[in-house]
Amino acid sequence: MAEHFSKRTATCGSLTKADDKKAVILNGWVHRHRDHGMIHFINLRDRYGITQVIVDDDSSKELQQVALSLNLEDCISVTGVVRARPASMVNPEMATGEIEVKAEQIEILSTCAPLPFQIDDGNVPREELRLKYRYLDLRTEGMKKRIKLRHDTVWAIRRYLSARGFYEIETPTMIKSTPEGARDFLVPSRIHVGKFYALPQSPQLFKQILMVGGMDKYFQIARCYRDEDARGDRQPEFTQLDLEMSFVTRDDVLSTMEGLFGYVFKEVMDYDLPPTFRRFSYEEAMNTYGCDKPDLRFGLELQDMNDLASRSTFATFKEIVAQGGHVKALCAPHSEIVDFSRKYITDLENAAKVYGAHGLAWMKVGENNTINGGISKFFEGLQGEIIDRFDAKEGDMILFVAHKEWKKTCASLSAVRSKLGKDLQLIRPGFEFCWIVDFPLFEYNEERGQWEAAHHMFSMPQAEYIDTMEEDPGKVKGDLYDLVLNGYEVASGSIRIHDVELQKRIFRICNFDDETAQERFGFLLTAFSFSPPPHGGIAPGIDRIVMIMAGESSIHEVIAFPKNTAGISPMDDSPSFVEEKQLEELHLKIVYPEKKE
Ligand code: AMO
Repeated sequence: MAEHFSKRTATCGSLTKADDKKAVILNGWVHRHRDHGMIHFINLRDRYGITQVIVDDDSSKELQQVALSLNLEDCISVTGVVRARPASMVNPEMATGEIEVKAEQIEILSTCAPLPFQIDDGNVPREELRLKYRYLDLRTEGMKKRIKLRHDTVWAIRRYLSARGFYEIETPTMIKSTPEGARDFLVPSRIHVGKFYALPQSPQLFKQILMVGGMDKYFQIARCYRDEDARGDRQPEFTQLDLEMSFVTRDDVLSTMEGLFGYVFKEVMDYDLPPTFRRFSYEEAMNTYGCDKPDLRFGLELQDMNDLASRSTFATFKEIVAQGGHVKALCAPHSEIVDFSRKYITDLENAAKVYGAHGLAWMKVGENNTINGGISKFFEGLQGEIIDRFDAKEGDMILFVAHKEWKKTCASLSAVRSKLGKDLQLIRPGFEFCWIVDFPLFEYNEERGQWEAAHHMFSMPQAEYIDTMEEDPGKVKGDLYDLVLNGYEVASGSIRIHDVELQKRIFRICNFDDETAQERFGFLLTAFSFSPPPHGGIAPGIDRIVMIMAGESSIHEVIAFPKNTAGISPMDDSPSFVEEKQLEELHLKIVYPEKKE
């Protein structure tokens, strides 16, 4: 069959000196075009790289004319001959910098409309434009690199797990709506009027049922859908590495993940992770870093100051401690970058207030182990102990939060810690994983006035709490674990309940009576009546992990076609209205909310 265009014999990233004098055909896009009268330099780009093509002054008139008519980003086919560049002309910046291709013929395969922005990594347009013309954005070096990184990561995951006996199994993306934390996206059924499928928030129940089905080790690169507000590290549809294993305890799941990420980081980035990751209990992480997803690339650990606060003369602190509250502090090291001015302390205080702190108290460390300024006058005679607790040095500043609630004390000071980490440039490069274990199983939802599962309702309470968990659900710890990387929660998982009665008790604590539980989760309960194995699993978020690997702070950067922060895809303009006929077929009517004047 005759080709309808001259098909490439090499890519734009492959040619070297060794190809000198070779006849080649390259296909690609016009990346740059310099026109020096009768000589044209065309940088031809494809996914693999850039090659300089030359239309020389001895070229035919036709070729000269085609070269002259080229616009940036036209898609062309170049037939020509490789020419080694003289040593003085070698471009070490380009992988193909040792050669150029002298064009003999150029075919224009398709022309490019006026560009809404330059394809130029040094000049990134605003995100809305990038998303509207994502196909152009994907042509940039940065996007190409990140898409490759994602591919390499997923591929390495598949290799590692497949070699260890895991089966990759697809689970349905149209399922029964089951409450799982976020809101479901619903799909109306045309055939079954009034009924809906839901898009899965995760394959949680199906992977557990696969264990009942004896599949033993399962994984899936699974799309998940959650109707929640989009943020930098959240998307309404995202991808998990979903994984489940039978006959395992917590440590089996954790070591499988440590092995997997060790392999993936080495293979994909040639980065050595430690063979095991540090572990903190939830309480320990909160007390030490103020949050359950600590960034371990810098220190600034929190200290409990209740003892010193109650021995001080500072009435506010003393009262809070007397009422069972908490005083915590951290020590910001003297900095050449940031001046600990009143204004800066106010900025830190504002960061703390977002998380409930009423204020941020401070004192500075002076010469000869003295402390001064702020609330130091209330700590007469306690200077030495304060300095020792932080091993503080001259020029450091100690910052305090006091609150009657432990969580708010921690969270407020964690916000101060994060800001200091960034502002003082304390964050080391690299990747710091850690595990957070022993989470509370339940959380009290003040708004709804009821207990809810902190992770999801299928997680196992730790053995010592099982008999009495109804008495004080707030005390129950679960066999739960989170994987944290550089301050982001990148995975969550748990050992699951495999006992129908225990599962029903959890449902009841979460306000699902037996009848409602049967209606919502009957299929799981039925499956669990057929000898389920003990099992557990985890689900790392692929988007978040690749984002961190890529050194980015938005998951949009590692998703080919993300939604914007309003949940809209500016390229295909979804979500969109549908035709009246479509709604009629589904027996749906839209009742628009009344416009507020
Ligand atoms: P969880 O809801 O904690 O657990 O999700 C697991 C991981 O998925 C990622 N993630 C997200 N990434 C992008 N956008 C989102 N909206 C989003 N939501 C979650 C995070 C998170 O750590 N079925 C359980 C897992 C299990 O128990 O095995 C689950 O889905 O990285």
